[in-house]
Amino acid sequence: MFYGKSIFNLLKTAERFLKSKGICESKSDAQVVLSFVLNIKRQELFFRGSLKPTYEQISKFKDYILRRSEGEPVAYITGFAGFMGFEFKVNNNVLIPRPETEILVERVLEFADMRSKWSVLDLCTGSGCIAVALAKLGVFENITASDISENAINIAKENAQINNAININFVKSDIFDGISGDNFDIIVSNPPYVSEEEYCILKNELKFEPKNALVAKNSGLFFYREISNRACRYLKNTGIVFLELNANKAYEIRSIFLDSPYYKNLRIVKDYAGLPRVLEAEINI
Ligand SMILES: C[S@@+](CC[C@H](N)C(=O)[O-])C[C@H]1O[C@@H](n2cnc3c(N)ncnc32)[C@H](O)[C@@H]1O
Repeated sequence: MFYGKSIFNLLKTAERFLKSKGICESKSDAQVVLSFVLNIKRQELFFRGSLKPTYEQISKFKDYILRRSEGEPVAYITGFAGFMGFEFKVNNNVLIPRPETEILVERVLEFADMRSKWSVLDLCTGSGCIAVALAKLGVFENITASDISENAINIAKENAQINNAININFVKSDIFDGISGDNFDIIVSNPPYVSEEEYCILKNELKFEPKNALVAKNSGLFFYREISNRACRYLKNTGIVFLELNANKAYEIRSIFLDSPYYKNLRIVKDYAGLPRVLEAEINI
């Protein structure tokens, strides 16, 4: 159904096929995959609509479209995802960076201010998207990025290299266990926050991502409790925590920090969909 077709007709065929398999973004997914296979920009597809790709190119395109039809995210197929205007290498060892996490980075940048030099800890760094974006867009004294997964740390290191982000120190660590130093100005984290119950009903597509990047014990609250109990030992007494929130549990999470004597001036920031997305908590010492 694909061979011998022009770019224009390949796109139409792939779009129809993906739609028939229940893929919502069938049109844009077909375009992203074909431009990746042809190694051209997405906009160029439209200038070259009548061109016929080679047999090998079509064969690759067909394989990728089949993978997409089975739910595999486009970012894992192309191996790249965009975040804060930068490109990140991704594979099934790391969560695909999400647009809503950009709010977290924007809040940290706004707080840190371009004139100041702060030290930052990015807990649960995954692909390194938060640490790398901060290193590229802010002026920080130093950035430490940690994750329990060695494979994730390796990808994060590659992403720092790809984006020429030079001042990041990567550490393999189970939450705070491998972190030394008590003088961070900022701890930022997008921790796993999906409960087992929520995971069971997630879309098939999300099951391609590492389960340990998504799911947290204690109804999804484990990392929030750990961070609330332990972060103050790693922060200066003027320090601040920025956390991405599970929007379904934002006020429960805020209560965890409200009930702790270590924090003051709690703020919840909404995302562009109006959902509570970031919790900010200043150290109260
Ligand atoms: C939701 S992902 C966030 C990844 C990345 N920061 C982002 O925003 O796209 C959570 C990350 O936490 C890591 N993780 C899971 N359990 C952990 C633990 N006990 N200690 C440290 N990191 C952990 C996972 O490997 C995963 O990379």
